[in-house]
Amino acid sequence: MKFVIGNWKMNGTRAILREMIERAANIQTENRVALCVPFTMLGEKSDIIAMGAQDISTHDRGAYTGEISGAMLAEAGAKYVIVGHSERRMYHDETNDIVRAKAARALESGLTPIICVGETADERRAGKTLEIITSGVRESVPENVSGDIIIAYEPRWAIGAGITPTADDIATAHRVIAETLSYMHLIGTPILYGASVNSKNVADIVAIENVDGVLVGGASLKPDEFIPIIENAK
Ligand code: PGA
Repeated sequence: MKFVIGNWKMNGTRAILREMIERAANIQTENRVALCVPFTMLGEKSDIIAMGAQDISTHDRGAYTGEISGAMLAEAGAKYVIVGHSERRMYHDETNDIVRAKAARALESGLTPIICVGETADERRAGKTLEIITSGVRESVPENVSGDIIIAYEPRWAIGAGITPTADDIATAHRVIAETLSYMHLIGTPILYGASVNSKNVADIVAIENVDGVLVGGASLKPDEFIPIIENAK
């Protein structure tokens, strides 16, 4: 079993989501599949594709115009929520502390947080990749994990770029994350790879040690790509 989780970002339509759900109904898979869609589409239902959100408030309720709480996401039908995606870190100044608070709120609401970590191009050039992902995991995972969590390793320089790190680089990053999680008494936490995953490279990527699945951006919006990704991730 592998995780295949899509991140639609601010893209897609309800019509595409319905088409995806219809086509997924006919496939045989043991994989756990989810689509993290814009908040407004969370209500759609599927036996194969669980729904997820892309962000959550650090607050439970109150005067926070525009924010959405974990309880609201759960009520709307979300099972998962992405926290700390690189675009949130980049455009909304989300730090590891904020990401950790969001992950904690997700767990309190019974949602599975997908906690993203990954290095920028500059950090990679400076040889800081492993340091950034280790501190990312240590500082973004809540103190007392009371439910399922997922970590996603997303090299930020490869997101949407059509390029992926080498298999060795992915293996090293995932081994270091697995070691960090084991040190935190979180052995067995799934670790997904994300950035430029498509129907052609997914089988090779999930065959790498410690890769428990994929987080897919652009290719998760196209049924002709995402359905084969679900099928080929094994
Ligand atoms: P990509 O995006 O698959 O389009 O590279 C991945 C992500 O941002 O999660």
